[in-house]
Amino acid sequence: MQKSIRKAVIPCGGMGTRFLPATKAIPKEILPVIDTPVLSYIVDELISSGIDQIHIILGEGKQAIKEYFVPNARLEKALAHKPELLQTLKNINKNAEITFGMQNVPRGSGDAIMCAREFTGDDPFIMANGDDLIVGDVPAAKQLCDAYAQHQAVVLGVQQVPAEETYKYGIVDPQKIDGRFVWCKGMVEKPKSNAPSRYAAIGRYVLTTEIYERIEQVPEVNGEISLTDAIYAIMKEGGVYAYELDCRRYDMGDKFGALTATVDFALKRPDLKDKFAEYLLTVVNGK
Ligand code: G1P
Repeated sequence: MQKSIRKAVIPCGGMGTRFLPATKAIPKEILPVIDTPVLSYIVDELISSGIDQIHIILGEGKQAIKEYFVPNARLEKALAHKPELLQTLKNINKNAEITFGMQNVPRGSGDAIMCAREFTGDDPFIMANGDDLIVGDVPAAKQLCDAYAQHQAVVLGVQQVPAEETYKYGIVDPQKIDGRFVWCKGMVEKPKSNAPSRYAAIGRYVLTTEIYERIEQVPEVNGEISLTDAIYAIMKEGGVYAYELDCRRYDMGDKFGALTATVDFALKRPDLKDKFAEYLLTVVNGK
């Protein structure tokens, strides 16, 4: 019987150059949306998608990510008289086993995934980018797990983006489109022109163990081993499709993306929404 997907890998090795100077000291993955790190929302998305083993790949200068997820006895002791806050802390790592790997040199997402080989073993897994924050009525990773259950192949989570933004993404070359399923014959990483479609990979994938041997065959270009090239190699044999996710995605490595996330999340938070909406109106109306 086919196994359900229980494992996820989150590569967090990237340098976060678009968010300097903050990322000189703070990994971009734990910059907060209001009071909670981006990565914490991503972990919650994975847990509500049925994932209970999560492997986070750290890079140099990313130890703060680990500090966020491991218990802090000193802080817990200090908050003993504040049960609500204490519970918030205890909930951080309650519902999944979170482990850590290390990518010593940032050499691209293909190389980062290689660091998870032992963790995933032969199981299919979700790969979630640590700076793509995705919100949906059905969590994005769950949508992909369900898509995988139908075809048992590598699945890319995609969304249609405006033509003028295709240069920022891995863009799929569709062979056949059937509702939300897009069978892929090719993929181009960040096309400068002539993008084959507007279907963009948005940082959620189902990968199978086949990916590792493909990554091993990908040549290093400009110091990076590209995951897209490894996926493309599987695609050429017809083994990959994309699934158009029903969701809202925020690029948290981008200043504008981070700002919109903060506004949208604040407008949904019961403790903030009324006051914040009122404030926004006064700003917009110039009063
Ligand atoms: C990565 C992938 C790209 C994908 C994007 C989504 O790029 O290489 O294919 O479209 O994530 O966020 P990055 O943004 O890490 O440069």
